[in-house]
Amino acid sequence: MGRLSASPCTLHITWKELLLTASLLIFWNPPTTAQVTIEAQPTKVSEGKDVLLLVHNLPQNLTGYVWYKGQIMDLHQFITAYTIDTETIIFGPAYSGRERVYSNASLLIQNVTRKDTGSYTIQIIKRGDKIKRITGHFTLYPELPKPYITNNNFNPMENKNVVALTCEPKTQGYTYLWRVNGQSLPASPRLKQPGKNRILILANVTRNDTGPYECEIRDRVGSMCSDPVTLDVLYGPHIPRIFPPSTYYHSGKTLQLSCFADSNPPAEYCWTIDGKFLQSGQELSIPRITTEHSGLYGCSVRNSATGRVRSTFKRIKVFARPVLGRPPGLNLI
Ligand SMILES: *[C@@H]1O[C@H](CO)[C@@H](O)[C@H](O)[C@H]1NC(C)=O
Ligand SMILES: *[C@@H]1O[C@H](CO)[C@@H](O)[C@H](O)[C@H]1NC(C)=O
Ligand SMILES: *[C@@H]1O[C@H](CO)[C@@H](O)[C@H](O)[C@H]1NC(C)=O
Ligand SMILES: *[C@@H]1O[C@H](CO)[C@@H](O)[C@H](O)[C@H]1NC(C)=O
Ligand SMILES: *[C@@H]1O[C@H](CO)[C@@H](O)[C@H](O)[C@H]1NC(C)=O
Repeated sequence: MGRLSASPCTLHITWKELLLTASLLIFWNPPTTAQVTIEAQPTKVSEGKDVLLLVHNLPQNLTGYVWYKGQIMDLHQFITAYTIDTETIIFGPAYSGRERVYSNASLLIQNVTRKDTGSYTIQIIKRGDKIKRITGHFTLYPELPKPYITNNNFNPMENKNVVALTCEPKTQGYTYLWRVNGQSLPASPRLKQPGKNRILILANVTRNDTGPYECEIRDRVGSMCSDPVTLDVLYGPHIPRIFPPSTYYHSGKTLQLSCFADSNPPAEYCWTIDGKFLQSGQELSIPRITTEHSGLYGCSVRNSATGRVRSTFKRIKVFARPVLGRPPGLNLI
């Protein structure tokens, strides 16, 4: 085992550009002909999984390898070492119990945690009178977990319920971002985002809050977006309206009325005449009407989800025969 010293010209390199997962850079000290490379398998690793840092094109005639955490050969960051002659594995102060060095110099890191993020340095010690060292660096970034949204109420009632959407998982060092309908959130005093944006509170939810919501987590390396969850705000029914607006009809004609009230989910409709149930359904059609069909027609609407009922009434007058010289404004069908 060679002395665990660092040569100054390998130190203090800026690695800011290495922002891609499994970026790696190898350099030589001194330069040799061998093209040693380090490859992570898999190239993206999520927390809890294992990653193998494969060392390719090892030179011949080596005495051992030393792995360090970080970019420099700092004794305090010495993880583990392998000595070829004695086939011995040595553990250093930075060994977490999850690293394993193989005889071919590759390093297995098991059960990766966010603390494993960062660079790794391997020192390859050649045999000979003069100890030569080859160092290689590798930067490991754990893949962000895919976030997901939990919700206290997917079908809130308008102007009644408070909706709290929570972006999971909760982890330090993430920032959270919300989108609705693919857009960033509109500025609204009803929106509150406590807990560093992880929780989105829609106080007094309205139908305009309907839509797909997504959350995104970010760390300094990347971002990951959740699947959308759709909020379906229940409302209504509003006061129904009866069409057409005509009031006067000739006998023998067909009385055709339709009723509409905005509601989510759609309302159930029923018709009454003079307070007596006539039929259910949005459309009312009575062929060959007579004067007997004059009366107060009512349309009642009910939203089964909100439990709300609304009604509207319309007086219909059926004339026995065409009215001659009817007063102006009389809309006769
Ligand atoms: C080194 O050994 C490990 C464990 O046997 C193996 O998985 C890996 O493929 C080897 N690496 C190379 C570069 O051959
Ligand atoms: C991985 O690490 C977590 C937390 O450190 C631990 O609870 C779990 O048992 C570990 N799993 C394995 C397979 O070592
Ligand atoms: C390995 O190193 C020894 C000692 O320096 C040397 O005698 C030998 O020739 C080397 N072998 C190879 C294959 O480089
Ligand atoms: C909720 O909104 C409705 C209609 O906009 C309003 O009348 C009501 O006062 C609001 N309630 C709260 C608690 O803000
Ligand atoms: C919903 O948005 C529309 C259009 O911006 C607006 O006119 C309406 O008042 C909003 N409704 C509620 C309940 O906030």
